Parts: sequence; C-alpha cells; structure tokens
Amino acid sequence: MPQLLTIGQVAERTGVATSALRFYEERGLIASERNGGGHRRYPRPVIRRVAFILFAQRVGLTLEQIGEELARLPAGRTPRREDWAALSAGWRARVDEQIAQLERLRDSLTDCIGCGCLSLDRCALVNPEDRLGREGSGARRL
Ligand code: FES
Repeated sequence: MPQLLTIGQVAERTGVATSALRFYEERGLIASERNGGGHRRYPRPVIRRVAFILFAQRVGLTLEQIGEELARLPAGRTPRREDWAALSAGWRARVDEQIAQLERLRDSLTDCIGCGCLSLDRCALVNPEDRLGREGSGARRL
C-alpha cells in the first residue's frame, strides 16, 4: 500500500464518506497534503485517526472534544498503539455515566408511556430531572 492515500482510498479503508472526510479536515481533525494536481493525499496513519474519531463519536464525544483529544497526541511522530490507548483510558467512566443517565431517563419515562401530555410541569420527556424548575419560576418555554 502506498504511503500517501487518496481521499477515495481513505474512504474505502475506513467506510467513511469522502464528504465526511473533507468535513473532518475542515474541522482540523485530519490533515492532508496536496499533490501537484492540487488533490488531497493523506499519510497512512490517517486511517487510525479516522477510526479513533468514529470510536470517540460512538462514545458520545463532540467533534470539538475529539479535536481536543487528538491534540494530546505526540507531535512530530506517528502515534503508537499506546498513544491511542492513553486517549481512551478515561472513557469507561464516561460510558458508565451515559448508561446511568439513560437508566434514570428510562425510569422517569414510566408516566409518559401512552400519555402524550408533554406537560412542562410533570413530563420527564419535556423537563428531564426538573431542569426547568431549577432555572426559576414562571414560563421557560413556549
Ligand atoms: S407525556 Fe405525559 S408525562 Fe410525559
């Protein structure tokens, strides 16, 4: 495999659409060089970088957060396996918290099943964990 990949080759290897790859590049998450014809060419390690982006998105990180994580990679050399492992080391706690939030949501939705009122006062779908109540009295929406 060549050391520099076309955007089509990266798309084929990662399963990510070329439009998404261009978007990642616009957001600074991946970088390419331009060949003589002005076409993008990506260094091979971009494949692992894209895999990391997909993984991080599944864990719930925003693209901005992913950019912050990627900025922690060592500069000046190709990241090694342990560099990637270090980035995701704290994600277990993040996933656990997401599971706990979903469990709380599931438990609070009992009243909503078959209801449809979408009441600002009592509906956990509209007002999860009484967030509106903490913002003060009076109308907060509508
Ligand atoms: S829809 Fe009625 S309580 Fe949520």
